[in-house]
Amino acid sequence: MTNENRKVTKAIVPVAGLGTRFLPATKSVPKEIMTLVDRPLIQYAMDEAREAGIKEFIFVTSRGKSALENYFDTAPVLEASLRESGKTELLEVLESTNLESGAIAYIRQNKPRGLGHAVWCARRLIANEPFAVILPDDVIAGSKPCLKQMVEAYEQTGGAMVAAMEVPADQTASYGILDVGEEMNRLVRAKGMVEKPSAGEAPSNLAVIGRYILTPSVLKTLDGQEAGSGGEIQLTDAIAAEIDAGRPVYGFRFEGQRFDCGSKAGFLQATVSFALARPDLHDELSAFLREIVHVGRAAE
Ligand code: UTP
Repeated sequence: MTNENRKVTKAIVPVAGLGTRFLPATKSVPKEIMTLVDRPLIQYAMDEAREAGIKEFIFVTSRGKSALENYFDTAPVLEASLRESGKTELLEVLESTNLESGAIAYIRQNKPRGLGHAVWCARRLIANEPFAVILPDDVIAGSKPCLKQMVEAYEQTGGAMVAAMEVPADQTASYGILDVGEEMNRLVRAKGMVEKPSAGEAPSNLAVIGRYILTPSVLKTLDGQEAGSGGEIQLTDAIAAEIDAGRPVYGFRFEGQRFDCGSKAGFLQATVSFALARPDLHDELSAFLREIVHVGRAAE
């Protein structure tokens, strides 16, 4: 171990995207407030982060995201009403969503110029310390939270770390893809990184998904970063520049199932999976699913 600081206590949560894949719903409801069963996407991300030891959150927001700010604030009238009517379980659920004053900062990204730009907007709130980046669209189910797995691995490696998973060859154009170097159990030393390569151009099928541990040098790189794929300032390009500068970057093959809740199909799959995992919903839902699958087959 060097004496480099490897304690990760801050997370940047970029939520300034337009969420066009969920229009018209996202015209007035932030995507991150959409619910899997009865908890908004953002709650899954925050629970995962808190279990990983994150104490301070920097939300990068945009116009129309005030529902997110309210979600993490106290709701005195509602809480008083639940207390008076003795609904203590619901009261506990509600209180677990409150974050203490000062634990969340909100920064605006004035234009959706890309994920790299969104992260850069938070630069003044990060000192000389490593930080996590969490994309709430990616919901990861598993016995140990994905970010906690990464924070533990990061304490051993330092450098920068991205969550990585294998994707089918025809899907590489939807992800940042790693050029794979030396492999050490769940860790992969990255030789390079390419944003959204076509199947023929992808250096591997190991894709980066929405969990990162980064160092302040990435923010410095983002200072002068130009637009890349899709005309957006890409976080992948800044991390690739770290590799080119000789700084270590690792992919971490996390344990768990990732749902792409930024897409309709992924969101629906997550909804069904999380509902089936709930004892109060399991029996009724699985009977219904069996029935409609059976009817569907009969109709073919
Ligand atoms: P997406 O690529 O999923 O974009 O962003 P989006 O706008 O949320 O959704 P679609 O594609 O239009 O449906 C991935 C993450 O990066 C954030 C988003 O809020 C999301 O958490 N992001 C993206 C920003 O904060 N700012 C940006 O300029 C772009």
